[in-house]
Amino acid sequence: MKGIVLAGGTGSRLRPITHTGPKQLVPVANKPVLQYGIEDLRDAGITEIGVVLGEKGRDEIQAFLGDGSEFGVDVTYIVQGEPLGLAHAAGCAREFVGDDDFVMYLGDNILKQGIGELVARYESNDAAAGIALQHVDNPGQFGIADVDESGAVRQLVEKPDDPPSNLALIGIYVFSPKIFDAIADLEPSWRGELEITDAIQALLDDGESIDSHVVEGWWKDTGKPEDILDANRLVLEGQPGATAGTIADGANVIGHVDLHETATIREGATVRGPVSIAADTVIRSNTYVGPYTSIGPNCIVDSTHVENSVVVGESRLTANGRIVDSLIGRGAMVESADDLLPEGRRLVVGENSQLKL
Ligand code: G1P
Repeated sequence: MKGIVLAGGTGSRLRPITHTGPKQLVPVANKPVLQYGIEDLRDAGITEIGVVLGEKGRDEIQAFLGDGSEFGVDVTYIVQGEPLGLAHAAGCAREFVGDDDFVMYLGDNILKQGIGELVARYESNDAAAGIALQHVDNPGQFGIADVDESGAVRQLVEKPDDPPSNLALIGIYVFSPKIFDAIADLEPSWRGELEITDAIQALLDDGESIDSHVVEGWWKDTGKPEDILDANRLVLEGQPGATAGTIADGANVIGHVDLHETATIREGATVRGPVSIAADTVIRSNTYVGPYTSIGPNCIVDSTHVENSVVVGESRLTANGRIVDSLIGRGAMVESADDLLPEGRRLVVGENSQLKL
């Protein structure tokens, strides 16, 4: 069994964070989203992985994953070029996959329980594909499956107006190489994309059986800022992590804090876990870092309050007041203007930023 990870897309819903890098490298609990998928594949015993790259962030993704050895896998890069849909991206991996079965994993998805059960279930039956599903409240925004009591798929439809169920295809699939012929015959959908959902439906129409597995535990497609914050909260809740850094006497650390060995919490700071603090970051006095917050590397947090937020890295947060529910991109500075006249907020804000003041 091989794996392919789709790491293209424009990340438009995560701008401005994705102006400077691909969405798959946005950190959740100080680890790029993409790494969760790579580790899930590895933990399911899949180490031959093709990473399908779009135009955006190709260099950054290759710089991060390298040949995969750091993550215990063997990575081959496949360039999709034009972003013509998930099925198009999968089709680009045909030569890499050859005659093997394979898992396709969308590189911006995170799920709690990994993919072991999905893979084991596929291997124990003769279906041409196995799809991972989860109940959702907004089925019109996903690919939706209608399944019988045994999990056999009866019908699939992409973003239906009239959903046959609320079981969404989450971004993880197991395929036999038969999927490639179905992809080759696809026509673009109403949104102009080759839909993987349509390719699986074509296998069904050809009389193939498609199996499904409802994933227990949470799953997040990290397409939007609030999804990143949700995923960060969910990962921090479940992840012990080590408190390896320096905690000064007089610092107040409560609950679980994943503190990098080169990070510091100074006297007079309060950090209430679960929190993750990355390399070389300093939490200074008169600061509160509240639950469900990840602070990336090389940050200074001073005389401020940060809660339920993700700070990517290289930032100075020194403004008086409370920063909550925020996603702060690399190198962003959030500083106090209190001692400057005229009084007021001074902003240097990039394209597509969102400020709630
Ligand atoms: C894609 C798939 C859809 C699936 C979803 C999961 O949607 O087309 O079937 O339910 O991923 O995240 P997209 O993110 O392209 O809207």
